[in-house]
Amino acid sequence: MLVIGCASQKGGVAKSSLARLLAREYADRGHRVLLADLDVLQATSLEWARRRSASGQHPEVPVERFDSVKQALKRARQADIDCLVLDARGFADAQTLDVAQAADALLIPSGLAVDDLLPTVRLAHELIQAGVPRARIGITLCCAGDLENEIAEAVRYVGDAGYHCLGLAWPERAGYRRAHDEGRAATEARHPSLRAKARAFADHAVTFIEQRGRQKKEEKRAGSQG
Ligand SMILES: Nc1ncnc2c1ncn2[C@@H]1O[C@H](COP(=O)(O)OP(=O)(O)OP(=O)(O)O)[C@@H](O)[C@H]1O
Ligand SMILES: [Mg+2]
Repeated sequence: MLVIGCASQKGGVAKSSLARLLAREYADRGHRVLLADLDVLQATSLEWARRRSASGQHPEVPVERFDSVKQALKRARQADIDCLVLDARGFADAQTLDVAQAADALLIPSGLAVDDLLPTVRLAHELIQAGVPRARIGITLCCAGDLENEIAEAVRYVGDAGYHCLGLAWPERAGYRRAHDEGRAATEARHPSLRAKARAFADHAVTFIEQRGRQKKEEKRAGSQG
């Protein structure tokens, strides 16, 4: 089972939006997907799934709410899920480490300002100190403006801190909010140009995740041989 984590230090940085985008992407590729909403109070992804199924949007993206990562993993194994997406709570807390430890790829969405990037990098440092492998972490620039310089600076900031930053930022657009409101993922936004931008971003994210998945298999193989 591939486990993808979406977590962050700050709230409202597009964790749930990213988790939905990826869950929808893997479902569309024929995987048995479960999106685990770990934010029992807000449960925004669960509500999004209700709107999605009410509008008959395909592919179906099963979403369930869990109190803990352990419960989500148990359920996913029982249900023979092959791609589990963990949508972490609003702010970083003890559960964030559980998400990071369970995930083969941990995506941390961040804004582009130092006020956003600094807490993001600090969270990554904390996770590494707690034993999470650095290579598992991918920082994704979300709700980005259109200034290429600003994006390049943010990518450099993350790289200088020793982390991998996805080279393509997910731009902020009202059309993506509308898509979420309608139970769609960003790649299903109404406007073709928004869909194309979200598609390019999703492809970047999936490439990172797939690389991580391959590394995990190689590590396992090496472990069983040694
Ligand atoms: N690229 C984007 N452009 C415009 N709006 C966006 C974009 N990505 C996310 N949003 C909107 O930003 C808001 C916050 O996103 P989301 O709920 O995914 O963040 P979150 O990190 O999960 O928040 P929380 O910390 O509360 O769990 C939502 O209204 C969402 O629709
Ligand atoms: Mg959320």
